[in-house]
Order: sequence, then C-alpha cells, then structure tokens
Amino acid sequence: MLVKRKGITVSRQIMDDQLLHPGATGELTGLLNDLVVAGKIISAEVNMAGLADILGQSGRTNIQGENVQKLDVFANQTIKRRMEQCGHVCVMASEEDDDIIPVLEGYEGNYTIAFDPLDGSTNIDVNVSIGTIFSIHRRLSPAPGQGNVGDLLQKGGKQVAAGYIIYGSSTVMVYTTGSGVHGFTLDPSVGEFFLSHPGIKIPDASLYYSVNEAYANHWFDSTRRFIDHLKTTDGGNGAYSLRYIGSLVADFHRNLIKGGIFLYPRDKKSGEKSEGKLRLLYEAAPLAMIAEQAGGRAITDDGRRILDIEPTKLHQRVPLIIGSKRDVDLAEKFLRGEM
Ligand code: AHG
Ligand code: MN
Ligand code: MN
Repeated sequence: MLVKRKGITVSRQIMDDQLLHPGATGELTGLLNDLVVAGKIISAEVNMAGLADILGQSGRTNIQGENVQKLDVFANQTIKRRMEQCGHVCVMASEEDDDIIPVLEGYEGNYTIAFDPLDGSTNIDVNVSIGTIFSIHRRLSPAPGQGNVGDLLQKGGKQVAAGYIIYGSSTVMVYTTGSGVHGFTLDPSVGEFFLSHPGIKIPDASLYYSVNEAYANHWFDSTRRFIDHLKTTDGGNGAYSLRYIGSLVADFHRNLIKGGIFLYPRDKKSGEKSEGKLRLLYEAAPLAMIAEQAGGRAITDDGRRILDIEPTKLHQRVPLIIGSKRDVDLAEKFLRGEM
C-alpha cells in the first residue's frame, strides 16, 4: 500500500489508486477526475446559495451558460453534463430523474454512475451541510453503445468506487475504490482538493446515535428497545449523544470521523412492507461501501447486509443502519430479538 502523504491532491491519489490495479485502463481515473470537477463547481454555487436566494436569480451564469437555478437542480445538471461527455460512462441514474439517463452518442464508456446530486436539500436554505453521493459500477452490457437499466441494478458489493462530497464548513470529498477510504479538503483559493484524512477508519467506540426521534411512536418494538438501550449505556466513550442533522451525508460523515451509528428504519406508519425512506442505489449502497472499507458495517433493520441486496428498481428504498461496527453489531442483536 502506497504511503499516504498528507497534502497530495485528490487527482494524484486517484492515479495512485489506479497503480494498485495493474490491469487498470485509466477509465475510472478519468471518471473520478471529472466528478471532482463537478464537485468543485457545485461547491462554488453552494457557497453562493444564500446570495442567490436573497437576490432571487443571482444574475450569475454557470459553466453551462445558464442562470443559477435552485441548487439541487443545478447540482443535477452539473453532474449530468460532466458525466454524459466524459467518455467513461454508458448510463446514469439520478435521484432527480425518474428514468435512466443516456450519455452523448459516441461518448459511451465502460462504467455506470448513480448519484444523489444534492443530499439533504431541505437544509440548503438554512445553511446546514449538504452533499453529493455517488456510486460507480462496471457495465455488464456489451460495449460499445449506451448502457441499460441492468447495468445500474447491480448489488452494492460490486461497486468499483463510491463516495460523497460534503459541502459544509469546508468542502470535503471522501471516496474509496476498494483500497481504503481517503478524505480530501478543498482549498478554494487554489481550487484543489488536498488529502486531509488519509486512511479513514471509523472509531469502534462511539459518541453519537443519529435517528429522527419524531417517529419514535411509530417504531417497531426492536428499534425502540435498541434506542432506549443506547440511552442507558455508552458507546465506550461515555454516554451517547443524539445528533440528527437531517442530511444523511452530514450525519454519516460525523459518525465516520468520530464514531457513531445512524438509523433510518422502517416504521409502522408507513407499514410493514415499506422499506424506509433512503434509496439503495445512490444513498445506502455507496455509504455502505465507505463504511465497510473504513471498518464499519451497514445493514437493514432485518439484518441484511446492504451490499448484498440485489436492486430491482432504480429508486428502491431500503431501511439503513450504518456506522461503527460495535454499534451495528449491538443493533443487530436487538433486531434479531437476542436482546
Ligand atoms: P434528499 O435531500 O436527497 O432527498 O435526502 C434527504 C434524506 C437524507 O438526507 C436524510 O437523512 C433524510 O432525508 C431525513 O429524512 P427525515 O426528515 O424524514 O428525517
Ligand atoms: Mn438524499
Ligand atoms: Mn437529494
């Protein structure tokens, strides 16, 4: 494993990752570098969001020559524009688009990307951290040409790369290509992401649990008993504190760095058959790959491993319990009725 040198750029790290895969063609490297550019563009607009809101249209035109639009639409357009012409993607899925998204003719590549262009978008207007989440698979359909929905409906365990960009007090990109998790912080003065969190490992002893307690009256018994237990014990670091930001990417990032568990379980309100709120393809699966690469776990509230779930629909939802291994192991015991 190459030594992680703090301060190297994300593009340098992506190249180093490629060296770990002798047969690599450089396609994934190119794809990730184009995603980095999209992240920088979105970060610049996120930091102007308040201004744009106050002034209505900010009067600024973005890189595509359009007036700056509502941020989640803007983020979606930005990523689609980049990915459709990067030459490394054959088909896309976005939280914002009902159907699969083709790439430009002649630019079809060998990977797919599914993404949540702006996660936590209800928090934009109140200046709370939001983020972009992405998941990358190798195509299954024969090249060349456009990909199809089957290229996207692959289980999370087959992702070749996954990550997120969190637009918070600073803009941080966290990703994995299967050889550990690295975090990069954007220096806006030079427009570069620099390695700031080499080889992230999620702390086993944790400080935080993260769940929307407003739904407590609708939780299934095992969920309620687990959360009640957390309030009477500690994560090995002293009593748990509740932290719930309402942006999955921000709640997950805090737990990744500090240790903790995030839950978005099913509840009786939405019926036994419901699968919770979060989407498998571009929220749960990419974060599950990050969590496991960082030594954590990600399961559903009936104990299935997120990365083993074979998707059947683009926007299918899945209950999500994710974070420090020790906490998820404990949750699993309650969910199985062993505690
Ligand atoms: P998005 O903004 O992409 O639709 O995602 C919002 C999600 C997720 O970010 C967060 O964890 C969850 O919604 C919060 O849901 P509740 O408001 O029901 O707690
Ligand atoms: Mn989301
Ligand atoms: Mn979203």
